[in-house]
Amino acid sequence: MNYPIVITIASEKGGVGKTTVATNLAVYLKALREDIPVTIFSFDNHFTVDKMLSIGGITPETSVRDIFRGRDLSELVQTGQYGVNFIASQNKLASFGERHEILSSQIADSSLDGIIIIDTRPSMDFFTKSALIASDLVIIPIKDLPSLDNIGGITSFCEDESDHPVNIRLLPSIVDGTVKFKSGKSATMDCLLRTVAAKRGYELIKHSIPRSPKVETLTTNSFSKVFPVITHARETGVHKSFTLLARDILSIIDKISEPQSLMALRKNIFASDAESNERYKERVATISPLCPSCGSKILTGLKNIKRDVLYFKSGRGKNGFVDKTCFTKDILDELVRLDKDLIYFRDELTEEIEGDNVFCIRIVDGEIQFSLYDTEGKTIFEGRARYSAGSPFAKLLHAMMTKTSEGFNPCIIKFGGKPFPDTILLDDSYYDFISLKNKITGEQEETGYKTRKKRLFKLPFS
Ligand SMILES: Nc1ncnc2c1ncn2[C@@H]1O[C@H](COP(=O)(O)OP(=O)(O)OP(=O)(O)O)[C@@H](O)[C@H]1O
Ligand SMILES: [Mg+2]
Repeated sequence: MNYPIVITIASEKGGVGKTTVATNLAVYLKALREDIPVTIFSFDNHFTVDKMLSIGGITPETSVRDIFRGRDLSELVQTGQYGVNFIASQNKLASFGERHEILSSQIADSSLDGIIIIDTRPSMDFFTKSALIASDLVIIPIKDLPSLDNIGGITSFCEDESDHPVNIRLLPSIVDGTVKFKSGKSATMDCLLRTVAAKRGYELIKHSIPRSPKVETLTTNSFSKVFPVITHARETGVHKSFTLLARDILSIIDKISEPQSLMALRKNIFASDAESNERYKERVATISPLCPSCGSKILTGLKNIKRDVLYFKSGRGKNGFVDKTCFTKDILDELVRLDKDLIYFRDELTEEIEGDNVFCIRIVDGEIQFSLYDTEGKTIFEGRARYSAGSPFAKLLHAMMTKTSEGFNPCIIKFGGKPFPDTILLDDSYYDFISLKNKITGEQEETGYKTRKKRLFKLPFS
């Protein structure tokens, strides 16, 4: 997915454990899910992220400040320790007034992937607001009742200013297990915070982070480093809590169907780039709403295309989406039936097609030729099969191919973009797709690449 999930750790109250939660959560998420890139940055000015993650000293050549100067986020990211990537901190940050959408636009426009964690300052300043606007999930650590009383600013900002639903979860943090309250029966701080928060209608993370003297010492040592709980406090209850917290977070973000980064990208395209918006609409208008194989409805609206479909294009006429199951069952399996040798490659082929590669079908001299190409246009696989013009298979191929005076235009088929197939129709992916198609087929279809500017929306610096 090129549309990362953004998690912000925020609280207007200082010292509630924001930075500890943000940094350790990043490390634990990476430890649990090695396959997902995890990136963290902080608007805090304590350089804790850098002290924990930097390899070989702090190099302040680029920092979070450059995000607001128009630099691509992926160029600012450094590889950090524990497999976590980070953007260096900066203590001199200037705000851009009310332009809180800059950060979300920058995230949407970057090629950053996976999970982004943002640590914030203990105030509702420009940077905290920018992070909240960009977030799919906001975690508010609460340590005591005053910190719980203090969360209204964040929750109302998310409700009023964000144009997408933000998941907000409270996390009891640095909870002192030794404190007991007498309220009929003895209750712990954790219990009290949970009861009051639930009564006020807030959702809580299932697992709290207990206070531990060992964890408190992780920021204090002669190397000026900050150590994560996972390597230096494994014996504490905090280690177990962070493991459970990371699992909770993974299950929450698994349920997010559309990350805000994708919504921000669409919004930018639709709001600020009328030309791009028109081009997207034109592309959608040319595709058939139905699967050419099963006839089921694939396209139900301008921004609503069924998942798990493959985009196909042949000449200027025939293009649309074919259901992935139909493609496998009615095209690949049919090719295997016609060319028995293909059976050894069938699974591999299915897997390859789900990647970035493209599949091409040609009808040449009464024969079906099919090939798989990589993103550079190099042939990975080639095969051919018999072609009998009247068969149901041939009818399906004809439905996906443009007829010319000489025969048929080649049909290029590509997995429709992950996880949102309509993204293949957005300028960025579409021009790449057309360039690749032209390379493979030798056609000259206009890519628009030269006239296109990389950035799709207007920022103060562009
Ligand atoms: N689970 C814990 N047990 C004990 N001490 C903790 C725990 N979590 C954090 N601390 C300590 O509490 C202090 C505040 O934590 P932290 O810096 O993470 O809070 P913060 O909310 O980011 O603060 P600020 O608002 O100043 O940015 C630090 O000294 C940290 O080491
Ligand atoms: Mg902090």
